[in-house]
Amino acid sequence: MRIQKLLLPMAVSAATLALSGQAMAETWKMALGDAAGGTQYELGTTFADIVEEKTGGEVTIDLFPNGQLGSEQDTVNNASMGLLDLSVLAINNITPFSPTVGVLTLPYVIQSPEDAKTLTQGEIAEELTQNTIRDAGVRILGWAYSGCRRLTNSARPVASPEDLDGLNIRVPKNEIMIAAYQAWGVNPAPLAWSETFTALQQGVVDGQDNPYITIDTMKFYEVQDHVTDSCYVFSLQPLIISEGKFQSLSPEMQEIVLEAGQEATSHSYDFLLESEEAIKKRLVEEHGMQITEPANDEQQWIEMATGIWPEFYDSIGGKEKLDQALEALGRDPA
Ligand code: MLT
Repeated sequence: MRIQKLLLPMAVSAATLALSGQAMAETWKMALGDAAGGTQYELGTTFADIVEEKTGGEVTIDLFPNGQLGSEQDTVNNASMGLLDLSVLAINNITPFSPTVGVLTLPYVIQSPEDAKTLTQGEIAEELTQNTIRDAGVRILGWAYSGCRRLTNSARPVASPEDLDGLNIRVPKNEIMIAAYQAWGVNPAPLAWSETFTALQQGVVDGQDNPYITIDTMKFYEVQDHVTDSCYVFSLQPLIISEGKFQSLSPEMQEIVLEAGQEATSHSYDFLLESEEAIKKRLVEEHGMQITEPANDEQQWIEMATGIWPEFYDSIGGKEKLDQALEALGRDPA
């Protein structure tokens, strides 16, 4: 596995086969939306190392962090067209291409790492993977668990939805997340992830939301002072492979990438549990961020945001899909 730090123009994937039909060493490209060092990077490097080891070095994977290969949404398009092999991106940036995945980003469905693990393993995840192959031409091989998305801003402590009044908050270009902010009474600014740091830095927007690990990896503490310890969406980051690429692999090679995806997922879960608290502490103690607890145990946020669920029943494949997820989590139907 190698990390590519140079900005490179988009290049066609270099899958190479010898004329004799014998496999030659190949290098695959993996895009990461985040900077090196966070949960995307942990998942990506673990996957790359396992593939390299299991193939005896026949396959090497180069990682391109920091959106070097385009915005996270661009990487879905590129993988779908066979111009990119692999990408790790936030789930909210794949949902526009395969809306049923939205069941995992409906506000307050996933409330903990355990919930996230439950819904990314087993029947529900398998169905969502089949849907992304059908809708977007990409297959989910594994998941990074990044933690709850926490609201940050540069202006003031935010404890209740009314405190958002007058703040311009960046959200991903994702209908569900836009609707959640609208339910809290503000019109957020949908912006690509690759433009977010600069927009915060230049004051084009006042705030955004992402997990503690991402706030740290992306150095948002340089441009944001306040964090609300909220948990409206759990940040899952699928590792996707171009389905065309996957189908071009031998059955043995397919088995290797599937196994590597599972092993990297398991590592990602442990990484989150081991690192999140320490990172949260560092954001306060070393970088001076101020953490605000949501008022009344987040009840007002929850009531307002979960009110949008019915708007998305059609796009997630029917209310029964949400109920199935809630049942898997041991909760009452919607
Ligand atoms: C986003 O806010 O667009 C994503 O959550 C960023 C990420 O991929 O970490």
